[in-house]
Amino acid sequence: SLLEETSLPLYFGWFLLSSVQVKVGCTAMDFLKTLDTLEAFKKHIVDFTGQAEKEVDLEQYFETKETLHCTTKFCNYGKADGAKEYAKNPVVKKSYGSVFSLSLTALFVTPRTVGARVSLTEEQLQLWPADTEKESEEGIPGSASLPVGSRAHITLGCASGVEPVQTGLDLLQILTLPEGEAVEEMELGSLRYYDEGRWMLSLREPICAAACFSSFYG
Ligand code: A2P
Repeated sequence: SLLEETSLPLYFGWFLLSSVQVKVGCTAMDFLKTLDTLEAFKKHIVDFTGQAEKEVDLEQYFETKETLHCTTKFCNYGKADGAKEYAKNPVVKKSYGSVFSLSLTALFVTPRTVGARVSLTEEQLQLWPADTEKESEEGIPGSASLPVGSRAHITLGCASGVEPVQTGLDLLQILTLPEGEAVEEMELGSLRYYDEGRWMLSLREPICAAACFSSFYG
């Protein structure tokens, strides 16, 4: 149709319902608040500050995001590879406007980004472009061998000057590394360190987040 040809969105994705945005945002804030007080974190503070001994307030360090979402396909108004094909996919059309239940299984923090890992169901994977993980192989060797859907995440915040696209790359990079050392049992789950300022908290109980499959034009 004319609509498809002339106006593809900036991206398609699952948009958290507003009450869920508040819940996820608060959980992330609580995590950041606790993380920067842990001795294990302070030991590696230089990853964030460039200086030992210096303190960091992670809540201030990251600029938090508003429209919390899990991008499925970045279309860049049709300029991105595969954008038109994605928009035409019957599953995409059929699912448009439907509410899904996303499972957030981990929170991760790096000196660049903070995000939530999303573990997609078989049904949700039908909306996930099959080549997503392969596209980052050049920058992140090993990412193409990860299971399809490994990049699925919600960007919760970025350090000053960092673009949100970095969050998915940070997640893929963590997933290509050997499992980090378990440094702390927190209320929410176990915290692992992956060197170079990369932290991942596997949630004891995944957060169930209702989200509408839709698109964003900007
Ligand atoms: P993410 O999905 O990690 O949050 P921007 O504001 O920079 O235009 O980005 C809009 C959204 O599209 C963000 O959610 C962002 O990252 C995602 N995004 C931006 N560029 C890309 C890309 N090259 N590949 C995949 N997702 C992207």
